[in-house]
Amino acid sequence: MSCTGCNEVSFDEFDEINYPRPETSDFADIVSRRGFLARGAAFGLGAFVLGSSALTPVSARAASRLGFEAVAANGLDTVTLPEGYSWQIVARWGDPLWSDGVEFDHATRGTGESQERAFGDNTDGMALFTKDGRNILAVNCEYTNRSIIYGARDSKLPETVDDVRKGKAAHGVSVFEIARKDGRWSIVKDSPFNRKITADSPMEITGPARGHALLKTAADPSGTKSLGTWNNCGNGRTPWGTYLTCEENFNGYFSSSDESNEPSAELSRYGVGNKDWGYAWAMADERFDISKHPNEPNRAGYVVEIDPFDPASTPKKRTALGRFKHENAELVVAPDGRVVVYLGDDERGEFLYRFVSDGRYSVGGDNRDLLESGTLFVAKFDDDGRGRWIALTPEATGMNSQAEICIHTRQAASAVGATTMDRPEWVVSNPRKAEVYCALTNNKNRGRKPNKGGDPTPVGGPNPRKQNLYGQIVRWMPDQGDHAAAGFDWDLFVMCGNPTVHKDANAGSKNVTPENMFNSPDGLGFDTTGLLYIQTDGNYSDAKGFAGMGNNQMLVGDPETGEIKRFMVGPNACEVTGITWSADRRTLFVGIQHPGEKDVESHFPDGGNTTPRSSVIAITRDDGGILG
Ligand code: FEO
Ligand code: CA
Ligand code: CA
Repeated sequence: MSCTGCNEVSFDEFDEINYPRPETSDFADIVSRRGFLARGAAFGLGAFVLGSSALTPVSARAASRLGFEAVAANGLDTVTLPEGYSWQIVARWGDPLWSDGVEFDHATRGTGESQERAFGDNTDGMALFTKDGRNILAVNCEYTNRSIIYGARDSKLPETVDDVRKGKAAHGVSVFEIARKDGRWSIVKDSPFNRKITADSPMEITGPARGHALLKTAADPSGTKSLGTWNNCGNGRTPWGTYLTCEENFNGYFSSSDESNEPSAELSRYGVGNKDWGYAWAMADERFDISKHPNEPNRAGYVVEIDPFDPASTPKKRTALGRFKHENAELVVAPDGRVVVYLGDDERGEFLYRFVSDGRYSVGGDNRDLLESGTLFVAKFDDDGRGRWIALTPEATGMNSQAEICIHTRQAASAVGATTMDRPEWVVSNPRKAEVYCALTNNKNRGRKPNKGGDPTPVGGPNPRKQNLYGQIVRWMPDQGDHAAAGFDWDLFVMCGNPTVHKDANAGSKNVTPENMFNSPDGLGFDTTGLLYIQTDGNYSDAKGFAGMGNNQMLVGDPETGEIKRFMVGPNACEVTGITWSADRRTLFVGIQHPGEKDVESHFPDGGNTTPRSSVIAITRDDGGILG
């Protein structure tokens, strides 16, 4: 069964509306944590574990490293940048990657056939790879907005087999060469590197869960080969030149033709139920019908490794990195050469993870399968600014095998009492020091409802506000500067808020001002100088508690001083997500996702009365200078 009317609710809300959790019953826990919050309010924000930079008013700081004029919040249907910077379109949803493709048709909004030869929808995480003078851009195409891609018809929903073909082809990863000519970047049509990886592309399942009974299906009795990747959110990249794409809300595509079907507790933990989120893929592809193929959802929710330079290579699902609603995958190399990957599970009250490889990275060596085996850990934050990583092993979790832990990772993390978080979005590591940042985007259920596994969500630690509407960014410093170490110190880099509306903790930390306020940090990226780019996916109503924040945006923060300045504002109803740089650092690529979602008027980027299109843009300095 497919969802009807789900275009009217937000992407994040749908699953909760259909599979509601009870209000928390762990009242005593909440009361004690409320005391913490009340002290925080009484004594000012210093009672929270805020970084010293987050506590220092901007005026008291040393000279700024943010050498641009801040952009004012606005509600314009375009991209706004500081004086001296310009932007251009690189690729829009529906732009053909091959010369036999057809140009995007604003009236019909394309077909299954045209979409299979064109850039996908809802651009998200991306990375630019440069070798021998060729620039290959790998871009996640996270999902589709039904009201936009099927907006040429009254229902604004998929109705035919070709609609599903188009939807599946708009998902996945688009890999294509780009080149700069006369100062402008554009797609190199027919490049031998151009490739579409969609919901139907063959994948190899690797790691501990490969061949496990839970991964076996009628089409693949071996449990080693699956079809497709979808809802690819954030990304990562490896020092050996591969791209990591992260499967997030994979659950929303499955449904049941049998309404009496009762999904297992294991599937329910991942939000897989009898109704999909409006994509209707089971209408044309039976493997998305869980009453017939209950193991299919177990083959999604992973990090997938792709070689952008070999279009014939089979993408590898890396089950060692766990199965959950993966946001991105931030890879760093520990002092002893082991590879550490930080991973967030973006759902209210879910967890933050770390993978540490068994093998060691060596420059120029054979690193191809470093993500095949290692130890998966989950974070436990204490209220006093300390934290530690708990290894998810059969002994610690009581589960039968590492394979099971890699498939039912959420259950494993619940079993060891990990810290329930305010929706971990992107995680990034400061290239200048051993310090890691994670955007905790918001969590209206904090202190009110447990997560899907029934774990309480007490107020405190890095999640210090009940019913958190604005979000915060937590950072941690691994012991001895070693990303593989067992423990870490943590604090909050920023608590977002609105100081023009609130006087309490919802005003935000002191590095939030009426000039730079924002909500729902999501995408993050560090430049080589150690400045933190913050992208938002939040409430763009510009009203009530969000008055003065305008459209979603991108800001730049200085980890040393806590200063935050708005660098860019996106067009109407967009989310700003995805960030990568050219090799010479003179171009910054940014993603504009879903302008015009929920029927908000937008004609970005083509103007006039055109259909809004998710787009990758390139930002340059007018003086040709370096951007980070
Ligand atoms: Fe796809 Fe959590 O953002
Ligand atoms: Ca995101
Ligand atoms: Ca988000």
